[in-house]
Amino acid sequence: MIDSFRLTEAAARKYQRHSVPAMFGPLAEKTVDLLRLKPDMHVLDVACGTGALTRAILKALKGRCRILGTDLNQTMIDVAREMTPDSPHNVDWLAADVTDLPLKDSGFDLACIQQGLQFFPDKPAALHEIHRVLRSDGRLCLTCWKEISPFNDSLATALEHHINPQAAEKARAPFSYRDGHVIQALLGENGFAVKRHAAIVLHRRFADLGEQILALPIEKDLRDAGEEKTRLVIDTTSKLLAPYDTDGVFIVPQEAHFFEARCR
Ligand SMILES: C[S@@+](CC[C@H](N)C(=O)[O-])C[C@H]1O[C@@H](n2cnc3c(N)ncnc32)[C@H](O)[C@@H]1O
Repeated sequence: MIDSFRLTEAAARKYQRHSVPAMFGPLAEKTVDLLRLKPDMHVLDVACGTGALTRAILKALKGRCRILGTDLNQTMIDVAREMTPDSPHNVDWLAADVTDLPLKDSGFDLACIQQGLQFFPDKPAALHEIHRVLRSDGRLCLTCWKEISPFNDSLATALEHHINPQAAEKARAPFSYRDGHVIQALLGENGFAVKRHAAIVLHRRFADLGEQILALPIEKDLRDAGEEKTRLVIDTTSKLLAPYDTDGVFIVPQEAHFFEARCR
């Protein structure tokens, strides 16, 4: 488990304030269109974070479903709960490791993982546990970043130059599991039959590159390195992203795999 996924309350709040509007919210909006949702479904959102996908599913089904969001980090779950203050009776939240879900067998029609699989240290154990809590005809839908985004690649290069390789590795970590054939084989070997593989493309806007860089888990590495090195990282990232500069705003593509698989 990488340290950046033991998140403090401040990190969970920053994730909701910056990363959800910039990336995970728009991704969730595009993902729900592919989920083949049906009213009254029982849905499990695994590694739900602060609940971006949970809320998008609720909105798409106008609240007509039962949905449980689970995440390793209690801090993410706390923010997710706050984000649904009128918590409808059909939404619940639970802090749990995906490999040890305190849930009964065969309770869900659909399990979703939005940008979580790449961070699970034991992926087969995670898939077996999800399979156990799905009904025999249940489905798993997941997204995982495809190509490394030009933003993260540029930032990692800048961190390698000015900070250290460990900080660069953190910037690349969300893209550490991006081979579609590998994901397809993993699903096939762990109880699922892949029914659909599609791509989702986002165009992220970076109006204030420095602010968006400092909203990432590498903030601590930058603060420890000091203001001058932080400025160098921001400047180098900005130069590397020049091809994406549109009137002072960087518009950067970011592509995700979407997989839909059925329990075998
Ligand atoms: C990039 S975030 C995605 C969160 C959310 N799905 C979203 O789209 O905003 C990855 C999430 O995976 C969770 N996570 C990492 N390892 C986990 C594990 N072993 N079990 C459950 N959740 C885990 C983290 O706590 C984090 O909230």
